[in-house]
Amino acid sequence: MKQTKQRGRTASTSKKNQENNEGTKNQDQGGSRLEKFFIEQLKDIYYAEQKITQALPKMQEAATTDELKDAFEDHQYQTQKHIKRLDKIFEMIGVSAEGKKCEAIEGITKEAETIIDETEEGTMTRDAALIMAAQKVEHYEIATYGGLIQFAITMGLPQVAEILERTIAEEENTDTRLTEIAEENVNLGAEQETFSYSWEKNESTA
Ligand SMILES: [Fe+2]
Ligand SMILES: [Fe+2]
Repeated sequence: MKQTKQRGRTASTSKKNQENNEGTKNQDQGGSRLEKFFIEQLKDIYYAEQKITQALPKMQEAATTDELKDAFEDHQYQTQKHIKRLDKIFEMIGVSAEGKKCEAIEGITKEAETIIDETEEGTMTRDAALIMAAQKVEHYEIATYGGLIQFAITMGLPQVAEILERTIAEEENTDTRLTEIAEENVNLGAEQETFSYSWEKNESTA
């Protein structure tokens, strides 16, 4: 699921904000409130990316199909790059690179762990559930990076925006790849597994 609409909406809002705020930008000695929020959100995603590098190897190990294992492995490498890019951005804006605990990613990655506990090893149902959990992670990242890109543009930091664009493109590609894995193979396989629990279907039609 692409987030183009949301990103588009953010873009137009930011343009308006840019026009409205031109006269008031950087009024405070310590930078604008938007800058402060931008840095807070950078710290949030910095924490989140590190949490994701801990979660992905567990998800890779738990996955049933090689296709999904490969997707998680590839994204693990990308996620390490995302952290390096954030390091670079912190350096560019002269702020020390540090994470701020992100409750959202704590919850989303906890959910992925629960899925591993609650699904049977070697089943397609586990992969179907893991894909959903992974897509929740990707969508959180896409929402955060989408906002950060627009903030960077508004604040007149096009090079920062360009770095963040590279990351969001990888998050979106991962999201698409996961959808394809689910739709081409995994969901159908999972449906066949649940078919043996015929009492569920009989109950729903009773
Ligand atoms: Fe990432
Ligand atoms: Fe990601």
